Amino acid sequence: MKRFAFSLLLSAVLPLFASAQTFDIHLDQPGAAIQPTMYGIFFEDINFAADGGLYAELVKNRSFEYLNNPLQGWKAFGKVQVREDGPFDRCPHYVRLTDPGHPHKITGLENEGYFGIGLKEGAQYRFSVWARVPEGGSSELRIVLVQPASMAESQILCEKKMEVKGIEWTQYEVLLTAPCTLDKAALRIFLSGNRATVDLEHVSLFPVDTWMGHRNGMRKDLAQALYDLHPGIFRFPGGCIVEGTDLDTRYNWKNTVGPVENRPLNVNRWQYCFDFRFFPDYYQSYGLGFYEFFQLSEELGSEPLPILSCGLACQFQNDSMDAHVPIDQLDPYIQDALDLIEFANGPVNSTWGKVRADMGHPAPFNLKYIGIGNEQWGREYPERLAPFVKAIRAAHPEIKIVGSAGPFPEGEEFERLWSEMQLMGADLVDEHYYRSYEWFLSQAGRYDAYGRSGPKVFAGEYACHADGKKYNHYYASLMEAAFMTGLERNADLVQMATYAPLFAHVEGWQWRPDLIWFDNLRTVRTASWYVQQLYSRYKGEQVVPLTLNGKPVSGADGLYASAVREGDKVYVKVVNTSEKQQDLVLNFGRKNVRATSSILFTSDRLYEDNTVDEPNLIVPREVAFQGEGTQVSIVVNPLSFAIFILQIK
Ligand code: AHR
Repeated sequence: MKRFAFSLLLSAVLPLFASAQTFDIHLDQPGAAIQPTMYGIFFEDINFAADGGLYAELVKNRSFEYLNNPLQGWKAFGKVQVREDGPFDRCPHYVRLTDPGHPHKITGLENEGYFGIGLKEGAQYRFSVWARVPEGGSSELRIVLVQPASMAESQILCEKKMEVKGIEWTQYEVLLTAPCTLDKAALRIFLSGNRATVDLEHVSLFPVDTWMGHRNGMRKDLAQALYDLHPGIFRFPGGCIVEGTDLDTRYNWKNTVGPVENRPLNVNRWQYCFDFRFFPDYYQSYGLGFYEFFQLSEELGSEPLPILSCGLACQFQNDSMDAHVPIDQLDPYIQDALDLIEFANGPVNSTWGKVRADMGHPAPFNLKYIGIGNEQWGREYPERLAPFVKAIRAAHPEIKIVGSAGPFPEGEEFERLWSEMQLMGADLVDEHYYRSYEWFLSQAGRYDAYGRSGPKVFAGEYACHADGKKYNHYYASLMEAAFMTGLERNADLVQMATYAPLFAHVEGWQWRPDLIWFDNLRTVRTASWYVQQLYSRYKGEQVVPLTLNGKPVSGADGLYASAVREGDKVYVKVVNTSEKQQDLVLNFGRKNVRATSSILFTSDRLYEDNTVDEPNLIVPREVAFQGEGTQVSIVVNPLSFAIFILQIK
């Protein structure tokens, strides 16, 4: 593939190509406005995206609530007893540490973290714990960060002592500074000093340096990777996780707000969804809950889009109607949706607005959209959606409602659901496509032919899943780039788009490809991430019709193209899926333009991607681009995605 590595600069300064195809760019026919919600992110707690991922807590099973084994993630030594009459009624377990009865024996606990605890040299870590001395008086703990696999004389990296006093539950904290960078440290807590019995609950370790410095914060590098996407919309919390394997395990947003110590644990359905990638220690602590989602959305500059259960448990996992909420018992679910709107937008003296204010955000979050149901289907979905729509419209006509077209992007059921959404007056319809190379190319013109009278489109989950190559690689990202020219061109209809899934821990994934990979210390922005980022960074304000022989460019000669305008700049996106260099002319009719720069995204490692060890294998680069007049020639490298930036004179 090396033979294709021509520079754009070389080609751009050439005179107009006699035989080149001409893209007509109709600056005199302004197209639809590009919605600020375009190109967003879809967060679901899959692949350890939340606990062990974006949520910066380093202690696994901090509240001793994991089902079946309250000490999962912990090693207990000496005399350790699990008790369940703790200070937080929805997380009742805690541990009692007692003198082991011999001066040479030791009582305490070790936490393994999520695939280890990642530490960075010189960084501070806040250890905190709720503790008491049940018999009164005082006791002492030694808080130690260790390298369990060390070959040095001592495993100890750093330590601090902590005095615990009195019979009342009190929160204590100490700061530890990591002396080195290590991806698999562990936390040890020793009963020390006079060894008086101590009770411990909600044992936590956070980096002090979180995203925006929040105490209950997000991992900075991962949040930065979201920020750098310039997301217009932020869909959360899923995905199938919204629905639950059964109704008991559905995502109930009310369990995810208020003090973190008292948010009840939920099993994560991705723990057991694929038994060939099984993670028996995968739970949802809800430390990253709805307040944190709204706050992050605000900090990322995106519109929040929460998706709520419509009363249907996951339909892939339940054949019987008994698994779902009967229609005449939907009221509590509908009330959850109304209460969520109040939580996000209500005044501080409203019930749920007060919860938000007490958590630190008296100002409303300005929620504008709500999704009801994830990938639902059958008659049972519209039957349940209808009463939600009625209640939300009556109480909050200002809120736009997103309905679902099911899990598949075509077929009878897809068509039927679209008709139902139209009849019901949904504002947007959420379409999902995890499809092949061929599908992505053949569907680049998908929305050119859609009717314009009904709901708008939310491309709510998509990623190119190649047959036999269902992992991240450059070529799949190129297919996504080609397809996205059709999203951009149809901005009047397609108003939101979010790749899925968002995150994956290299040691804890269940599903791939994913947009961002990470280990305990490092982040990988994939080729697909760069495609999303380029679309978002150069999304423009208005579509400019771009045609080849009077038609949209959607596959002719392996080319896909679209153009947008931002002020007096034009961004022309061209994806060349063919293996030949393409000489083209951009024709601006009577308008004079001047080439300013171009971005080239290409790689000869077609079936590879960036990795934690080589995060910058495949990245876009800026390339000089020159030319002036009503026509400018360009050369597009084989198998590449390029953005040409021109100034209108
Ligand atoms: O993105 C992974 C899963 O794919 C989502 O949870 C679900 O909505 C879809 O089937």
